[in-house]
Amino acid sequence: MRQIDRRSFLALAEASLTAFALAGCSSQNSSTSPSNASSQQPSAETDASSAYPGKSIVVYFSATGNTKGIAEKIAATTGSDIYEITPAEPYTSDDLNYNDQNSRTTQEMNDPSARPALGDDSIDLSPYTTVYLGYPIWWGDAPRIMSTFVESVDLSSATVVPFVTSSSSPIGSSAKNLQSLANGGTWKDGGRIDVSASDDDIKDFVEKNK
Ligand SMILES: Cc1cc2nc3c(=O)[nH]c(=O)nc-3n(C[C@H](O)[C@H](O)[C@H](O)COP(=O)(O)O)c2cc1C
Repeated sequence: MRQIDRRSFLALAEASLTAFALAGCSSQNSSTSPSNASSQQPSAETDASSAYPGKSIVVYFSATGNTKGIAEKIAATTGSDIYEITPAEPYTSDDLNYNDQNSRTTQEMNDPSARPALGDDSIDLSPYTTVYLGYPIWWGDAPRIMSTFVESVDLSSATVVPFVTSSSSPIGSSAKNLQSLANGGTWKDGGRIDVSASDDDIKDFVEKNK
């Protein structure tokens, strides 16, 4: 983890502790719900999908539910299938403690080679022309499980649209870092989506990244 990210995030966390705690702890246990594996919805028949031709899927990791909420909105807007990336070992609230130098997430983010194991068999993304790829920002970067994921799938024939949630940090170089680990694909800029994004905000994001 870059020192600058850590410093600026710590300053931010201190300044807006209450807001951050609310955002971060709203659904502490939703991260690794076992119901994730291939909860898919039909994409061909919906009105939304006819506005966004081509088979698409929203693939996301979410430790506390914020990214999951945005992922579901993108799936509804675009008529996409949806798939949750789960860790083999679920993240507890102690694991997510960014004030603890020894917490699991601090240790993982301090180690660019960390590759937390996935909980599910990897998904075949070859049927999809567009993959919306979502994750929270941790210490200015993508959680290391996203590295595990992008290294385990074939994105070579997909357009990848990265999206992130965070307390305030932008997507930064997190998606470029994932792109450098991935097996190809056409990567759009994507960006941060606020947890309170409206349907119109989601539509704007999708349109901008078409
Ligand atoms: C370990 C950890 C590190 C985080 N680092 C940042 C950060 O660098 N910048 C930021 O704005 N938010 C940071 N956050 C806040 C999360 O990005 C934010 O709460 C996000 O919406 C959580 O998404 P989720 O609920 O899908 O897991 C961090 C949270 C955790 C648990």
